[in-house]
Amino acid sequence: MLVGCRVFSSRKALIGALVPRGGLGIEVGTQTGEFARFLLDVTKPSALHVVDVTYRLFDESLFHADDPLVRHEGLSWEVLRGFADASMDWIYIDASHAYNDVTRDIRAAATKVRSGGLLVFNDYTSWSPIEVVPYGVLRAVNELLCAGGWDVVGLGLHGLGYHDICLRRR
Ligand SMILES: C[S@@+](CC[C@H](N)C(=O)[O-])C[C@H]1O[C@@H](n2cnc3c(N)ncnc32)[C@H](O)[C@@H]1O
Repeated sequence: MLVGCRVFSSRKALIGALVPRGGLGIEVGTQTGEFARFLLDVTKPSALHVVDVTYRLFDESLFHADDPLVRHEGLSWEVLRGFADASMDWIYIDASHAYNDVTRDIRAAATKVRSGGLLVFNDYTSWSPIEVVPYGVLRAVNELLCAGGWDVVGLGLHGLGYHDICLRRR
């Protein structure tokens, strides 16, 4: 499950090394769109779907008319259910960090990734030192791993513990 797992100094280094170029991807939870801009520039996707419950903070000025960006507004797990099974090369999950919500995202996202595709989670931790609240990402992701069918292929480290973890579907 951990054989061949690579450790990176940051989430950007992880994405740059592990996410395939030219694929079809989703960023779940986009907020300002700043990381979506990075994903477009580095992974050169055929299309990048972004999902958020609100686009209030989204910075339109970061994007150009010819960017292959598709916006979806709504609850992440409901939007995810609308994609075809095994249609995605990768999904980056960074919406709600509450255990029940992450579990819903995992259930909705896992079947959408093709065999050999990636599920990447931001904030793989049980505690947010900035907000001083528990995060459920670590528990939810560990449960997915224990259920089988996924290998850990990368960890992107963060100085405050908001690590990224990258899983590959068998
Ligand atoms: C941490 S921010 C995303 C940051 C972005 N991925 C980045 O790296 O800069 C989380 C975003 O998820 C959205 N969000 C939280 N819960 C959600 C849900 N259940 N469905 C859709 N979006 C949600 C919030 O509105 C917020 O914009």
